Amino acid sequence: MDVKKTSAISGFYKLSRQERIEKISKACALEKEQAKILQSDSPLEFGIADRMVENALGMHGLPFAVATNFIVNGREVLVPMAIEEPSVVAAASNGAKLCRESNGFEAGADEPVMVGQVQLVDIADAKKAAKELNAKKSEIMKDTEPFAEGMARYGGGLRGFSARALPTQRGEMVIAEFEVDVRDAMGANTINTVLEGIAPKLEELTGGKVRLRILTNLAIKRMARSKAIWKKEAIGAEAIEGVLDAWAFAEADVFRACTHNKGIMNGIDAVAVATGNDWRAVEAGAHAFAAAGGKYRSLTRYRKLPNGDLEGEIELPLAVGTIGGAIKTLPTAQVALSILGVKTARELACVMASVGLAQNFAALKALSTEGIQRGHMELHAKNLAISAGASGAEIEKVAGRMAEERNATASRAEEILHEIRKK
Ligand code: MEV
Repeated sequence: MDVKKTSAISGFYKLSRQERIEKISKACALEKEQAKILQSDSPLEFGIADRMVENALGMHGLPFAVATNFIVNGREVLVPMAIEEPSVVAAASNGAKLCRESNGFEAGADEPVMVGQVQLVDIADAKKAAKELNAKKSEIMKDTEPFAEGMARYGGGLRGFSARALPTQRGEMVIAEFEVDVRDAMGANTINTVLEGIAPKLEELTGGKVRLRILTNLAIKRMARSKAIWKKEAIGAEAIEGVLDAWAFAEADVFRACTHNKGIMNGIDAVAVATGNDWRAVEAGAHAFAAAGGKYRSLTRYRKLPNGDLEGEIELPLAVGTIGGAIKTLPTAQVALSILGVKTARELACVMASVGLAQNFAALKALSTEGIQRGHMELHAKNLAISAGASGAEIEKVAGRMAEERNATASRAEEILHEIRKK
């Protein structure tokens, strides 16, 4: 996005679809073809879908929206989100808006190093075998390097190796772990290829039998973090106390922590889906990391600064890419990356972590003060109005009447629409 432009597009939600697309196209310098993709109600051709998965029948649509107001590392960012749940885009935009005054989010991401595991069984003395493998680290690394050559050409490649004995229900096994810098890819294919390539050598060295050769989604070497300050003048002292109480609840109680982290993932997953990333991998990694200390915890932390402002932080593994796989195949994913204006996987991870934090802050603020149902109900009423056939100004009218009557049902929406049209 042009740095001179701002992501704080006021009243964006009130614009027509066409106007929104025009604004985004201009702000993000989208090509005409990309604007056309946004305009299309079926941007993915069946022929492509049919090659992506087995037994394809058609397409599954999801709303593709943009969250506004984000500043990440000093850069104005518009954030594409693909999600079916109402309020998520609005909450992210709101969380980001309320920290603009303190320059938004300061984020960072580690080098994109993926870890993969080779499981070796049928070894009489697993501890001894693991020790011997570690002693032969340089030989193993040398033999592994050719399998990671594709990445080395782009500045990535093999970064590490270690082996350990693992006691299991079926006896002790050896687990050999490889680290590969996958640059701007998510990296699953790369690392799995490396593991399958080197596995026979490990069998040869240990006399054991190779079973699994697969990445771990607990991408612990690929952490992303983001931090923001919400000024007390911007959100009020009561909201700060509310967010701190809500966070303390999540830290102390797994039932709350689960929902707290679900809210974070509402934002992160929506960006993952919009950009064609593997959101199940991101989810699995996030929750495993949340439980990695032996207790399932919140992925965010909050504290009150000496001047009374609220500081929030998030940290989680984010194995996401900007190249390869579905990212290349899905037309909307390409447009999403252009809207974001990110080139590298690390830049994308920085934005995603910031979206997770914004989402969490907005949810905690709403939950601990006015509750979230009012906002949810408004959107629900609008959805019912649309389903009943309302269009344009009718939508607001039908939804507004149902909100007044506190009766938002499909049949009531139809009745009201009928009445309005009769007049
Ligand atoms: C709903 O999808 C997400 C929330 O439940 C998150 C939270 O409780 O923190 C609102």
